[in-house]
Amino acid sequence: MSLKLDKAGEFDSLSASYLFSEVRQRKSKFLGKNGGEVIDMGVGDIAYPVCETVVEALVRASLEMGDNARFRGYPPESGYQFLKDAIARFYVEMGALIDAEEVFVGEGAKSDASSFCDLFGPAETIIPEPVYPVYRDSALMRGNSITYLSGNKENDFLPLPHGLAKTPAIIWLCSPNNPTGSVYGLGGLQAWVDYALDSGSVILFDAAYSAFAPEGYPKTIYEAKGAESCAVEFCSLSKSAGFTGLRCSWVTIPRGIKLGGARLIDLWRRRQSAKFNGVSYIIQRGAEAALSKKGAEECAEIVNIYKKNSRILGGFLKKVTYVGSGDGSPYIWFECPKGFTSWEFFDRLLGEVRLVGTPGCGFGPSGEGFFRLSCFATEERAREALGRLEKLSLWN
Ligand code: MLT
Repeated sequence: MSLKLDKAGEFDSLSASYLFSEVRQRKSKFLGKNGGEVIDMGVGDIAYPVCETVVEALVRASLEMGDNARFRGYPPESGYQFLKDAIARFYVEMGALIDAEEVFVGEGAKSDASSFCDLFGPAETIIPEPVYPVYRDSALMRGNSITYLSGNKENDFLPLPHGLAKTPAIIWLCSPNNPTGSVYGLGGLQAWVDYALDSGSVILFDAAYSAFAPEGYPKTIYEAKGAESCAVEFCSLSKSAGFTGLRCSWVTIPRGIKLGGARLIDLWRRRQSAKFNGVSYIIQRGAEAALSKKGAEECAEIVNIYKKNSRILGGFLKKVTYVGSGDGSPYIWFECPKGFTSWEFFDRLLGEVRLVGTPGCGFGPSGEGFFRLSCFATEERAREALGRLEKLSLWN
């Protein structure tokens, strides 16, 4: 009997390679052929080290692990109580009623979000796009059918559920959005929550970029009324506290959310206990420190540099093309020069001024003709990138 890949059909429906792998491959190929250096504003990876308060906590926790009386073995798979309490306080400060037992610590929003699809059988999935490709790829790997909602210049890249059938679905939302930097106001989030409640849907809300939400905009889905009955939130310290290399995230699942009589929180706990052994003690102590008053202030200083980068780059780009992202956004989202597809522009930007970005079409069909530059760079690097953008010969 031969071995069969049960999922071969689903994997066939994916693009040949993951977007950011493709970007890395093209960059390496270019460097292999041409040598020299490039400025890489492709993947949104951090440019500054983690702050002092976090480092101190990591060191203290590491020393505990070598101490006969204080070392720890397997962590609880949903996270240590000290971190779950710190995360619950983070929500209470935003006015959201999430308690520590509704918090599950994970090792990254990407894996939490994709693993969460394990809880659903074949399901209709609604994905406003352009969007982080993980939601789409995870849905396709589960064999789910997808309804895309187009984000575009007309709706400021913030699609709403108007006109959608009132049938139950999984809805992915990301705000502030990766890649467009667009941010739903409370009215937009409320429209989605009302739709989810009316249709029996569940919202999976990615708040990984909440630290970049402008003043007056929601930082959590739980600011919308009724969200605690229909919305699960994913958040991570990758972008807000520089944890891309350390890995720490969380999922919040209000205990009132039920599917077919079962509570989502119980299903996720069951899933995690079977498939996940928790995040290391050292990292969780670092995460706790990042959420402390002093840690949060130090992290905010670094986030402010990334926000400044967005003003440095966006200020110029707004003069020469359409820019969709706002000031202080984690990514600059702009229209390619006339006549260029996203990948054509990628090649030209790399070839002519040695700048790497991410082609908009990789985030969904409505991203074709657009381009993303990551603002996660040192200020010096962002200014250098600005100089290169100004030199590009394509702007009219
Ligand atoms: C991005 O560049 O979109 C992100 O950094 C990738 C990720 O968070 O996995």
